[in-house]
Amino acid sequence: MCRLWGGNAFASSGATGLAPRASPRQNNPTLIAFGTKFLAENIPPSDTGTMDLVLTCIRMAARDTNLYSFARADRAPLPGAEPGAHIGVILPNGIERQYSLVHAAPQMTEYTVGVKRDANSRGGSLFMHDQLRVGSTLKVVPPRNNFPLREDAEHVVLLAGGIGITPIYCMMKRLIEKGRSWELYYSCRSRLDTAFLEELSRFSQAHFHFDDEEAGRFLDVAGIVEKLPKNAHLYCCGPAPMLAAFEAATAHWKPEQVHVEYFTPKFAAAQEGGFIVELARSKRELTIPPGKSILQCVREAGIQVPHSCEEGVCGACETRVISGQPDHRDTILTEQERKESATMMICCSGSKSPRLVLDI
Ligand code: FES
Repeated sequence: MCRLWGGNAFASSGATGLAPRASPRQNNPTLIAFGTKFLAENIPPSDTGTMDLVLTCIRMAARDTNLYSFARADRAPLPGAEPGAHIGVILPNGIERQYSLVHAAPQMTEYTVGVKRDANSRGGSLFMHDQLRVGSTLKVVPPRNNFPLREDAEHVVLLAGGIGITPIYCMMKRLIEKGRSWELYYSCRSRLDTAFLEELSRFSQAHFHFDDEEAGRFLDVAGIVEKLPKNAHLYCCGPAPMLAAFEAATAHWKPEQVHVEYFTPKFAAAQEGGFIVELARSKRELTIPPGKSILQCVREAGIQVPHSCEEGVCGACETRVISGQPDHRDTILTEQERKESATMMICCSGSKSPRLVLDI
């Protein structure tokens, strides 16, 4: 289905320096288990590379929403993925966009994503809808998962708004496959905008809300959450007002039971600068000036590090912190992870201490 996050130019091709270390959140089942994230120490550099994939199919899923399928030209296997994962699609102008997978499995020969045409977008969805044709070859960044599903949860509650159904649909399919207990609340402006409506309507656990049939009222997220069993795991993906309502309604829940996928950055990037970053493996020291990110300074120093969205929403630039106190501005780390500060997203986060030592 569709676009999840906006992204900036993809360019992990620094001239010299260290081999890239894969993001700790690469979609590797050995690294991500039941919502717990582990640091990747030995992923080969090729895992951070892109693949040339052919657009094999475009299908209409709802008004202004298409499904796009990508495969290798020879149909060779692709890296597997877990529900909640997204791929990065690099457009011919170098812009990267991240889209959640509609299907996920350990072995895959095709990635399918959904994209809603947004006339106000920065160009990604317009390009996909208006210019992309079956047979086009695009560079694709392998799956990464910041929204992993707890498949062993006693009960899973899925909330989706609009195009946010993409990762939620993928999770629902996995839960059905595994025979797990689940329910879905899916909100759209109207039936015409509702992807997978016919299929989802077959499940009694799927509940729909169409704004235009409710006098323009939004889904009552607080009312839904209030009635849920307290052992449930909750997943929400949708527009910012829905996520805000969800976070408010679940504020008193255990953080490990509440899972949110953001479309766009939640916090402004750190701009203050004025601190020193020591790159331990590179044996370099950089002064970060105001208005520049750590990532920019590292790249300008000719050091190659993984990165993608540059907005703190994809997890590609996650870097291990050896010492110092980061000023976290991403939308990926949990509150606990922020407190522990074992890692940070160097594209958007700054430093509260005069010096940071990073594993770069
Ligand atoms: Fe996406 Fe930093 S590049 S989180």
